[in-house]
Amino acid sequence: MKGKILVTGGAGYIGSHTCVELINAGYEPIIIDNFSNSEKFVLDKIKQITGNEITTYNIDCCNLELLINSLLAEKIIGCIHFAAYKAVGESSKLPLKYYHNNIASTVAILSFLEKISCPNFVFSSSCTVYGQPDILPVTEKSPIKLAESPYGRTKQVCEDIIHDTVKANKTLKAFALRYFNPIGAHPSALIGELPLGTPNNLVPYITQTAIGKREQLTVFGNDYDTPDGTCIRDYIHVVDLAKAHVKAMEELLRTKEPIFDCINLGTGKGNSVLEVIETFERVNDIKLNYKIGPRREGDVEKVYADTSYALNKLNWKTELSLEAALQDAWKWESSLN
Ligand code: WQD
Repeated sequence: MKGKILVTGGAGYIGSHTCVELINAGYEPIIIDNFSNSEKFVLDKIKQITGNEITTYNIDCCNLELLINSLLAEKIIGCIHFAAYKAVGESSKLPLKYYHNNIASTVAILSFLEKISCPNFVFSSSCTVYGQPDILPVTEKSPIKLAESPYGRTKQVCEDIIHDTVKANKTLKAFALRYFNPIGAHPSALIGELPLGTPNNLVPYITQTAIGKREQLTVFGNDYDTPDGTCIRDYIHVVDLAKAHVKAMEELLRTKEPIFDCINLGTGKGNSVLEVIETFERVNDIKLNYKIGPRREGDVEKVYADTSYALNKLNWKTELSLEAALQDAWKWESSLN
């Protein structure tokens, strides 16, 4: 075993897929999760996929004293910090809930790592920090725009906190991974996205409509300045995204010098909402019930990644297609019902 990696939010969507890939790469994930936005059965599914039982602590990442008392003996060599609230719309209604949880947890985790002299930190960030880029594809050097939501703002603030801590700490090494649009599920259909209540995101809303849990999908606007009028995004298979986290951690473990870098994780390709719908229908042989509705407040028109830095820095690029992600998403939804 190559070493223990602390995975906060490890029972969540991207966290659980990353635990699978960490195990596949010879690491031992240690999960922290308070299950406020994840399900305990996911831990059994990770075991079913990998054959490994995962040590899990049901504690709140904001509680530094509890982190120290619970984890001091674990001898972790690195941390991947997923735990955060991430519903963009909800964050505008409950900003203090988001500012407290997302920022205080990052401060507590960084303080804990400093306490145990663990220098390797991977942070779950988001392309939301770019807002609507002026130039596409968007690179890591693209200007950071005023966040469209408190959620996006917490990601920007946390990146600054990490940057300042690396500068002061002299030993901390950190990557902020800026996700584009994670979709899909593990090909085993044993783990996948579990949105609480009505899904905000496109693909879970598509699969829930297809399975009959939702009456009809509404396409939020078709009057944008894009080829078919609907918004364009960079949809990345969650398994590709999980593998990028392992690559990022391994790069930090190799690096001797302090570092803080932000890295875009996307496919480098943009697809419109209607293209996603059409692809879903085609690869799953399903007719989807949808209508065109008004634009959604806060949506950017088009954003997709320049992925050259991820290839250069992590020797990583996506391998799975949009078709595969939409097939895996449908297999997962079907397995839930
Ligand atoms: C994608 C497109 C919608 C639902 C969000 C977060 C971002 C990241 C990914 C965490 C948009 C359209 C959606 C629906 C629709 N999360 N849509 N009908 O908004 O690009 O990004 O999730 O890091 O931070 O902001 O993703 O899936 O909500 O929307 O037409 O029922 O699908 O308008 O154009 P988004 P999304």
